[in-house]
Amino acid sequence: MEFFIDSANVFEVEQWASTGMIMGVTTNPTLIAQSGRAIKDVLAQICSLVEGPISAEVTLPDVSGMLAEAEVLSAIADNIIIKVPLTKDGLKACDRLTKQGIGVNVTLCFSAAQALLAANSGATFISPFMGRLDDIGESGVGLIADIREIYEKGGYETAILAASVRNADHVVAAAKAGAHVATLPPKVLEGLYAHPLTTKGLELFEKDWQATGQTILDK
Ligand code: E4P
Repeated sequence: MEFFIDSANVFEVEQWASTGMIMGVTTNPTLIAQSGRAIKDVLAQICSLVEGPISAEVTLPDVSGMLAEAEVLSAIADNIIIKVPLTKDGLKACDRLTKQGIGVNVTLCFSAAQALLAANSGATFISPFMGRLDDIGESGVGLIADIREIYEKGGYETAILAASVRNADHVVAAAKAGAHVATLPPKVLEGLYAHPLTTKGLELFEKDWQATGQTILDK
C-alpha cells in the first residue's frame, strides 16, 4: 500500500516528500482554506515537489461547472488529477474527464454501492472515508474490505485510496483490507514511526556504545 500525504501545506509536503516514500498528495477545500493561500499557487508548488498524482478538488455543484473548474485545475501541471464528489453530477464529470484521459479521484465515498458507481464511471481512485464513518459508529475498514472484494470480483481497475485516516491502526487495517493507497495527514505519518521499544532500544545502544569509547568515523 502506497502513501500519499493529505495536506495543502507546502512546508509539510516538502518535509515529507524528502522521506522518499510519498507517492502523491490529496487536497480538499478545507485544506486549501487552512493553508490561507490561493489554490492555484499552492497546487503549482505542490506539483513541483511530488511527482505522483496531486488531487485538486472541484467546488461547483453542477457538471458543467465541475468540468470548467477541472480545465483550469488540470492546466496547473501535468500531475494534477481532478477530485470530484460522489454525486450524480460528480460522477458524470468523472466519466467525461476519464474519457478525456484525465485522472479522477472520487471523494466522499461512504458505501460500497457508491464505490461501484464510481468504478462504473471510470474513476482512477475511489476515496472511502474511514474516520468519518467510524465517527458515526460504522466501520471504515469494513467498507474498504467490501470495496476490494467487489472490485476484484467485477474486474474493476479503480484503485482504493483510504482517506480520513486518523491513526496508525487505521493505516494497518486499510492495508490488510486491501487498500492500494492511504492518504495520511502529517500527524498520522509521524505516528507510524513511534514505538516505545524502539526508543528504549536506542537508548541502550547509545549507552553501551559510549562505554566502548569508540567512534566509527575517523577523526
Ligand atoms: C482526502 O482526500 C480527504 O479529503 C481527507 O482524508 C479527509 O479527511 P478528514 O475526514 O480528516 O477531514
